[in-house]
Amino acid sequence: MSNRQRPVSVTTLAAMKRRGERITCLTAYDASLARVMTEAGVDMILVGDSLGMVVQGHDTTLPVTLDEMIYHSRCVARGMAQTQARQPLLLVDLPFMSYASVEQALHSAARLMKEGGAQMVKLEGGAAQVAVVQALTVQGIPVCAHLGLTPQSVHKLGGYKVQGREASAAEAMLHDALALQQAGADTLILECIPATLAELISKELHIPVIGIGAGAQCDGQVLVSTDVLGLSAQPPRFALDYAQIHGAPALAIRAFIADVRAGAFPQPEQCFS
Ligand code: KIV
Repeated sequence: MSNRQRPVSVTTLAAMKRRGERITCLTAYDASLARVMTEAGVDMILVGDSLGMVVQGHDTTLPVTLDEMIYHSRCVARGMAQTQARQPLLLVDLPFMSYASVEQALHSAARLMKEGGAQMVKLEGGAAQVAVVQALTVQGIPVCAHLGLTPQSVHKLGGYKVQGREASAAEAMLHDALALQQAGADTLILECIPATLAELISKELHIPVIGIGAGAQCDGQVLVSTDVLGLSAQPPRFALDYAQIHGAPALAIRAFIADVRAGAFPQPEQCFS
C-alpha cells in the first residue's frame, strides 16, 4: 500500500482558503519539472497554454492545440507520479477556441481529463462563459476561471496590459467573478490587475482566488516556471527570478513556495496600482 499523503483536491483548496493558508501554484510542461515541483510540495501544477510561448516559441498562446495540451499534461502527470510526495492538483488549460460552445467545451474538457489526466480545467473569460462553466460543473468537471489579462484575447485587449484600472472595468470584473462562482467555478485566477481590486474580489468570493500580477492579498499565487527559473528573455514585472537568488531549480521552487506561504511574495515592486 502507498504511503503517500492525500492528494490536493478542490476540497483541500477550499479548506486552505477558509484557514487563510496561501495556495501555491506553478506552471509545468514536462515530467522533470513536474517531479521537482511535486517533491517541493507545490499545491497545484498548471499545464498552461503559456507553453505556446515558452516551449513552442510563439508570440501568443493562440496556436496551441488541444492535442498539444493533452501531450504536455500527460508528461506532467507522469512526472508527478514518479515521486511518493503528496500529489498536487493538476490544472490544465483549455486552449483557444476549444470551448467556443457548450458541446465543444464538454468534448475538450473530457479529453483533457481522460487522455491528459487533468483534475481541473481552466478557461478564460467572464459572464459570457457562465453556460460553459455550468455545463462542465453538471458533469462533475472542476473548473478554474481566469479573469483580468486573458492572453487568449490578446488581440482584442490590444496587448499584454494591466486590466481593471478604470472603475467601470473593475466593477465589471467583480460582477464576472461572482457570476462565474455562481455558475460553479471552483477557483479563479486573476492576472495582471491592480492589487486593491484583486483583494476586493478575493474577499467577496468564497472560492479560492489565485493571483499572478494581482498583488499579495489573493488566496494564492501562480507564476510561469520559466520566469521563476530565470529562463525568460523578458520576464514580466510581476515575476521574480528565484533561480538568480537561490541557485538550482529545486531550491528556487522551494523558495517560491516558502515565500508565498509566508506572505513574502509578491512585494510592492511586483504589484500594480
Ligand atoms: O497559461 C498560463 O500559464 C496561465 C498563467 C499565466 C496563469 O494561464
